[in-house]
Amino acid sequence: MADISSIDAVERTLAAQGYVSDRALATVVFLALRLGRPLFLEGEAGTGKTEIAKTLAQALGRRLIRLQCYEGLDAAQAVYDWNFPAQMVAIRTAEATGSTDRDALQDELFGPDYLIERPLLQAMRPHAEGPPVLLIDELDRTDEPFEAFLLEALSDFQVTIPEIGTIAAPEPPIVILTSNRTREVHDALKRRCLYHWVDYPSHAREMEILAARAPDAAEGLSREVVAFVQRLRTEDLFKKPGVAETIDWAKCLLALDTLTLSPEVIADTLGALLKYQDDIQKLQGSEAKRLLDEARASLEPA
Ligand SMILES: Nc1ncnc2c1ncn2[C@@H]1O[C@H](COP(=O)(O)OP(=O)(O)OP(=O)(O)O)[C@@H](O)[C@H]1O
Ligand SMILES: [Mg+2]
Repeated sequence: MADISSIDAVERTLAAQGYVSDRALATVVFLALRLGRPLFLEGEAGTGKTEIAKTLAQALGRRLIRLQCYEGLDAAQAVYDWNFPAQMVAIRTAEATGSTDRDALQDELFGPDYLIERPLLQAMRPHAEGPPVLLIDELDRTDEPFEAFLLEALSDFQVTIPEIGTIAAPEPPIVILTSNRTREVHDALKRRCLYHWVDYPSHAREMEILAARAPDAAEGLSREVVAFVQRLRTEDLFKKPGVAETIDWAKCLLALDTLTLSPEVIADTLGALLKYQDDIQKLQGSEAKRLLDEARASLEPA
């Protein structure tokens, strides 16, 4: 069983799974686990929000249950639904065999055999290995009614199905919510949670992440890659590269046997870093060279 008895232990446990956290993140994860509070992670894209839930589940040996949010997500997709096709077949069969016990059929049709359990209900079920990690990913994509619904589900960790009854979690799941902040999530929901803003990592931390996730990259190349990406993030871009892009880029450069960055190799591989044509356009001509020179200058000891 992973050691999560202190902030340092949490940091080490995450690191053992290849997740590089900083002190602030390790602290909030430690507290969320200790106090049994949901953890609300907000931040830029590709900064390791989703990954922390996956890493925690892995480290603790718990099941990861993921609710991917999207516009129009409703209880039928999030909590439970009835298996209509199977119910129809059962009704047809009952008709064909001339079964007349309507009440028995009704009970059967709205019983466990025909229930489809969605992520929130799955998370309320007992799990032999202990409460699962419930990842409610990209909450900002849903709408306010769903948020209100979630607020309720997260306050008592139980689900009522009129035909079956109330199902309550024996122990609350470990809940992690993420948001890219395309809109503000309601205060009432945030108040239930511990909050942490996941920022882009510092140069040193991003080097550690590369060492963990792209271990084949030589230190010299990694230093240049990180310096360039960090410099790029200070530009006015439509979509700044996240950590995921840094890792991808390093892997692309490795695949091309690149030993050191040049404006040409940057131009050829920019698609790993920037995903919008307008942003790519900005680095045409001498711009890539200028940024590379500045990035290199930042690496020189002062
Ligand atoms: N601190 C970190 N330590 C190790 N790997 C990391 C870290 N941060 C990010 N990564 C890597 O970056 C990838 C992307 O992270 P993740 O998908 O968690 O980002 P996200 O914040 O959820 O992004 P989005 O908002 O786009 O969903 C991960 O697969 C992981 O490999
Ligand atoms: Mg994510």
